[in-house]
Amino acid sequence: KPYLVLGQDGWSVTYTTQSICALKGSTVDLICSYTYPRGHEVISTFWFAKIVHLRDDPDYKGRVTYRSDRMNGHTLKITDLRESDSAEYKFIFITDQTGGRYTGSPGVTLSVKGLQVKVTGGHQDKTLTCSTTCTLTDNPTYIWYKNGHKVKENTSSLYSDYFSDADSYSCAVKGHENLHSPAVYGPRNTSVSVSPSGEIVEGSSVTLTCSSDANPPVQSCTWWYRKKGGTYQRISNQNTGPQHVFNQIQSSDSGEYYCEAQNEMGTDRSRTMNMHVKYGPRNTSVSVSPSGEIVEGSSVTLTCSSDANPPVDKYTWYKKNVTSPKASGQSYSITNIISEDRGEYYCEAQNGRGSMNSTAVMIIVAGKVSSSIQNYMFQSNLNHYTLSYYTLDYNYTLGYKIP
Ligand SMILES: *[C@@H]1O[C@H](CO)[C@@H](O)[C@H](O)[C@H]1NC(C)=O
Ligand SMILES: *[C@@H]1O[C@H](CO)[C@@H](O)[C@H](O)[C@H]1NC(C)=O
Ligand SMILES: *[C@@H]1O[C@H](CO)[C@@H](O)[C@H](O)[C@H]1NC(C)=O
Ligand SMILES: *[C@@H]1O[C@H](CO)[C@@H](O)[C@H](O)[C@H]1NC(C)=O
Repeated sequence: KPYLVLGQDGWSVTYTTQSICALKGSTVDLICSYTYPRGHEVISTFWFAKIVHLRDDPDYKGRVTYRSDRMNGHTLKITDLRESDSAEYKFIFITDQTGGRYTGSPGVTLSVKGLQVKVTGGHQDKTLTCSTTCTLTDNPTYIWYKNGHKVKENTSSLYSDYFSDADSYSCAVKGHENLHSPAVYGPRNTSVSVSPSGEIVEGSSVTLTCSSDANPPVQSCTWWYRKKGGTYQRISNQNTGPQHVFNQIQSSDSGEYYCEAQNEMGTDRSRTMNMHVKYGPRNTSVSVSPSGEIVEGSSVTLTCSSDANPPVDKYTWYKKNVTSPKASGQSYSITNIISEDRGEYYCEAQNGRGSMNSTAVMIIVAGKVSSSIQNYMFQSNLNHYTLSYYTLDYNYTLGYKIP
């Protein structure tokens, strides 16, 4: 369909067509001829697009050739077409006379389109469509490739089959077999990454990201979690995004995670990611052994315990009203105890994440009964009388019932 752009006084440009749709990567010829008034002599002709002379446009470097033949045919050849070459191309010629200049405007509209595979349909009955957004040559023949190997050739752009998640499918048009569409395939190499990287500390903000190689792009992600030894549960039915965010992560969030990425072609799950949330010591407490009374000259061992991740790496023992620490290590033994050892003891548990002091335990040292009965006291408790004795160090109830 030749297309004439007519000016006054005999100026004109005739393009062979007004618009062209071409496949990305292919080659196109834009051809025109011109007329001009008598008395002029043409001294310069060229094609331009986007205002710039094509010869000077770096985007076209090495891809354009312009050829004029004696028969008034002016051909612009563009090879290795890119989508960015889509533009209106105009032909201009200049003569030796003042004002002797004519542009064939509007020019030829070139649309460069890649082939694309569209996926429609459900789980078992998917259909692939090989398409571009503009009309190619009349009745093209479509060729389908599975994992790069030709599997089908048909004049219909549709392809229905059982498509497995793991295979990739692309299409081409006969005559341009080297210009495949990008392949479509189910998600691959699905993985979970943790940000920030490194140690995960309780209370911090942590983001898990599910990433996948997929075409069409991943549509939705499903997050799964289980505590050690438990069963996997979906984290949330709402969240189908690529990220799962913990605003303030808790130690109870420790466990195994994975994500499942889905696109129109299938699903793929990541490997399991183990998350260990670190926290400073808590529930720090002291146990005393032996329990019960501690007699002068005997020994007692205090043991500090604490819940911490990583485990406590430093224990320090303090006695109240004594400024310097008494000892270090998880257990603290006081041997050959004397009355001055009486007092309140507590421990400090520390790991890289913090420290916590236990509450104090009272250590009471009993004098030896034989030598230390010094004071007696009667207590009345309703009609129940007890005789007590005490030393400075120890308050001991003999428990005699006096009728
Ligand atoms: C994806 O996995 C394949 C093997 O299955 C591997 O060759 C490729 O390098 C991986 N790609 C990425 C981006 O990890
Ligand atoms: C530790 O302390 C928390 C409160 O701080 C409490 O909920 C939890 O039950 C304690 N755990 C143990 C093992 O004592
Ligand atoms: C520690 O000292 C304070 C005042 O100096 C005193 O009131 C308190 O009884 C003392 N505690 C112990 C366990 O000795
Ligand atoms: C634990 O007690 C020691 C000694 O009194 C003190 O220096 C330290 O700051 C305390 N630690 C905490 C976490 O309260």
